[in-house]
Amino acid sequence: MIARDGACVSLWQNTVTEFNKSNFFSDNSFDVAIVGGGITGITTALQLQKAGKKCIVFEAYNLCFGTTSGTTAHLNTLLDTPYTTIIKNFGKENAQLVAQSSKEAIELIKSIIKEYNIDCEFEDASAFLFAQDDKQNKELQDIHDACREVNVKAVYANELAVSIAHKKVMRVDGQGKFHPVKYVHALAKVFEDLGGVILQQCRVEDVDENDVINIVTEKGNFQAEFLIYATHIPPGVNLLHLRCAAYRSYAMAVTLKNKKYPGNLFYDMYDPYHYIRSQKIKNSTYLIVGAEDHKTGHVENTDECFLKLEAYVRKHFDVDEVVNKWSSQYFEPADALPYIGHLPGHKGNILVASGYGGNGMTYSHVAAVTLKSIILNEENPYIKLYDPNRIKPVAGFVSFLSHNADVVRMFAGKWFANEKLKELADMAPGEGRVVKYEGHTIALHKDESGGLHALNPTCTHMKCSVAWNNAEQTWDCPCHGARYNIEGYVVTGPANIQLEKIEIKNLAE
Ligand code: FES
Repeated sequence: MIARDGACVSLWQNTVTEFNKSNFFSDNSFDVAIVGGGITGITTALQLQKAGKKCIVFEAYNLCFGTTSGTTAHLNTLLDTPYTTIIKNFGKENAQLVAQSSKEAIELIKSIIKEYNIDCEFEDASAFLFAQDDKQNKELQDIHDACREVNVKAVYANELAVSIAHKKVMRVDGQGKFHPVKYVHALAKVFEDLGGVILQQCRVEDVDENDVINIVTEKGNFQAEFLIYATHIPPGVNLLHLRCAAYRSYAMAVTLKNKKYPGNLFYDMYDPYHYIRSQKIKNSTYLIVGAEDHKTGHVENTDECFLKLEAYVRKHFDVDEVVNKWSSQYFEPADALPYIGHLPGHKGNILVASGYGGNGMTYSHVAAVTLKSIILNEENPYIKLYDPNRIKPVAGFVSFLSHNADVVRMFAGKWFANEKLKELADMAPGEGRVVKYEGHTIALHKDESGGLHALNPTCTHMKCSVAWNNAEQTWDCPCHGARYNIEGYVVTGPANIQLEKIEIKNLAE
């Protein structure tokens, strides 16, 4: 099993072992440094290494620690954001390019799997989007028409292979599904075979931007001509944090008594919608269902999201056993398209890929192709389409940045008595709460053996107050989605500095 960014265990992390190959290297200078060892980082690194660039990947934990091991791994040209919206925001020609890029992304995945003979349980699939009332019927018709306008071949279907009441059904072929962590581990091996370097358990602590970028990490200093943030959202403080909203989504893998696993991909049209598929892993098959999305840090009891999801799954399927349940994070872009390219407000050699919405598996490969074209100076229409600088800076943003860049350490030198805090800790083991005490605000967590852990709840990114996520046992920031474990260490950016620990002393000692 590999580690990931929360307490819940996903189907993917539970069915692989850690990637631990590592290349020897003697020179700390590289053409391209990639920060983040998820599907975007590793795919981009491989594309560039194959093109002759000397690349290094820095991963703060282990490969696929973040959303790559928390996704449900749908590969779509039928994107979460309907083409009706993309046409409205960007025009028909650009929407056609979006559809083309997602189609090419799936083709790229298939060609990589074939070229390197990768065992990642990939299967071709069709997507079925189904309406359940008259309003959704109308919406489905609009989506159907928009799909056809952008050359995504949508057709109406007569049947739905899952027993859920429905009205109109639309089918789109040419989609796919796979085991994302097996895929990324295989790519990482190919990358290293080609001479690439991966450093796991190596957090990037600072980046000094010049013509040659100096990268300060936990394992020494490195230099690179280009740096790519493949960290889901870039660290630090950036315009993109105002243009991407962090969301959590919940998923469950179950076995079925009747063994009737639907082979394709299914989506209802509620907001948030349910997404359904199956996955074979070796000799076992699982039904995977996801839903209950909400903004990160905006739901008080995240366990309830799993309860609602399980009720839905049991209502519609003949569940034998719930094997895994987990949640994961995605970043919704403000205008419906990801931000891939030059990081706003930085030198031209700092690149980023972010804001994938719920289509990270597909967009990761759009990003790999687009970032490679930028670095190799190739013509590519996706560079303009996904340019993060399509966002116009807002007035006053610069002073806003400098004001918030300094994180205030409110608790330095202060401690609290265990005996007194216990009076506040009217919580079950495993719970956490932000409490007021002696004029201070404290993020208090009680561990399974009753021990108390206290943190400064002020997010080190831009000073919002974190909220407890009881399902994943993390402190989540409602502003831009940073997440911290119970010790206060960052498990999800954009924060790069841990929460301040507050000392608790026993008065009797
Ligand atoms: Fe930005 Fe917490 S993530 S303030």
